[in-house]
Amino acid sequence: MTDSSFAISGASIEMKTQIGILGAGPAGLYLAHLLHRAGIDCVILESRSREEIEGTIRAGVLEQWVVDLTVQLGLGERMMREGHFHSGVTFQFGGQRHHIDMEELTSGKRVTVYAQHEVIKDLVAARLAHGGKIVFSVQDVQLHNVDGDQPKITYRVGGDTDELRCDFIAGCDGFHGPSRQAIPVVDRVEYQKIYPFGWLGILARAPASWHELIYSRHERGFGLLSTRSPEIQRLYLQCDPNDAIANWPDERIWAEMQLRFGYPGWTLIEGPIFQKNILAMRSFVCETMQFGRLFLAGDAAHIVPPTGAKGLNLAVADVLVLSQGLEAWYRRGTREGLDNYSPACLPRIWKGERFSWYMTTLLHLDETEGRFEQRVRMADLDYVVHSRAAMTALAENYVGLPFGN
Ligand code: FAD
Ligand code: PHB
Repeated sequence: MTDSSFAISGASIEMKTQIGILGAGPAGLYLAHLLHRAGIDCVILESRSREEIEGTIRAGVLEQWVVDLTVQLGLGERMMREGHFHSGVTFQFGGQRHHIDMEELTSGKRVTVYAQHEVIKDLVAARLAHGGKIVFSVQDVQLHNVDGDQPKITYRVGGDTDELRCDFIAGCDGFHGPSRQAIPVVDRVEYQKIYPFGWLGILARAPASWHELIYSRHERGFGLLSTRSPEIQRLYLQCDPNDAIANWPDERIWAEMQLRFGYPGWTLIEGPIFQKNILAMRSFVCETMQFGRLFLAGDAAHIVPPTGAKGLNLAVADVLVLSQGLEAWYRRGTREGLDNYSPACLPRIWKGERFSWYMTTLLHLDETEGRFEQRVRMADLDYVVHSRAAMTALAENYVGLPFGN
């Protein structure tokens, strides 16, 4: 397979590669590593700086198979050393706590808590060490000729307009990136749900208060207690998505956390908050994940509310399927894998959407719902924690469904 080639015409650079990847998030970076393993050349264009992508706080929970894949790709050394392996979660509601033993219910599967930005740091460093090309801080990215044989991407870095010619474009540029917009609106089949609540997320310097994640449904709203390291904790509160973070001084946040996680004989340990923000929540699927030589992957094609911890995991699943299709194309000249990309990905995506929607509606207080529906949610929670069948269904979705069904 060829290496990326460069030509300089005037002040601008023309590059040629096999796969042009937009976005150095989890989707773009895992794809680049999978392609490298298959001997396929790629270039990543990223609109933010390396410091920005390595400093953005997002996901925390990785499914077992993502961890296994990361290790197989030779990228898991720090993850295995610094990650936290969780064999269960705690659900709290009605003043009680219930442990769900996922490892026992799924014959040995666990989840790993390892922050997304740490994954990004590991994947960027390894990509650059392998001689891979990532162009950071690109602007005015435009996709051209995606439905022809020779697509290209033009972009600006430092004043010059450069171009990247490629065989295929992988749109891994997140929900707000330009890739999805390059598919004509009339051709796109999309589904969306906006939730009437958001999350206020914090990072605090404090020791862990509990040995596993706590998902709490409380009459004042949802709360999630997660972790990042023995010294740093990650917590979330359900809030109004339109609220301003300025309305949430640290004392108010801790007072609310104490109410939503309060449990007799147990103490929520507080500490200095060094990061806080509010995010809105939506479910979204663009079923048109391919158009000509453009393939969408990850958040560019679908969004889930974070309650099910599925977004990053779904992004990696997409690019695993895409890399297999591309490998078949370059090795055997068969287009079947690429033609089947969307139908191969969508069943898993919709199961991730269903689970994320289910966890969200189960655990949040939705004031737009009637009192009847709220009672039904409580009955559902009560059922989940007392029925082995229901707990098993929850556990197998949480640790990651098997591939292929
Ligand atoms: P992104 O991470 O959004 O990456 C897209 C990249 O493209 C970005 O770096 C962006 O800068 C770049 N880009 C954008 N526009 C352009 C352009 N014009 N040109 C070039 N590059 C561009 N998921 C889980 O699996 N487990 C969890 O526990 C979990 N927790 C979460 C908690 C929170 C608070 C949030 C917000 C999300 C969480 N998620 C979780 C979801 C997860 O973070 C996302 O699903 C994941 O980041 C998707 O990866 P991606 O590569 O598709 O997109
Ligand atoms: C996180 O640690 O950021 C996290 C954990 C579980 C979730 C969502 C986010 O469901």
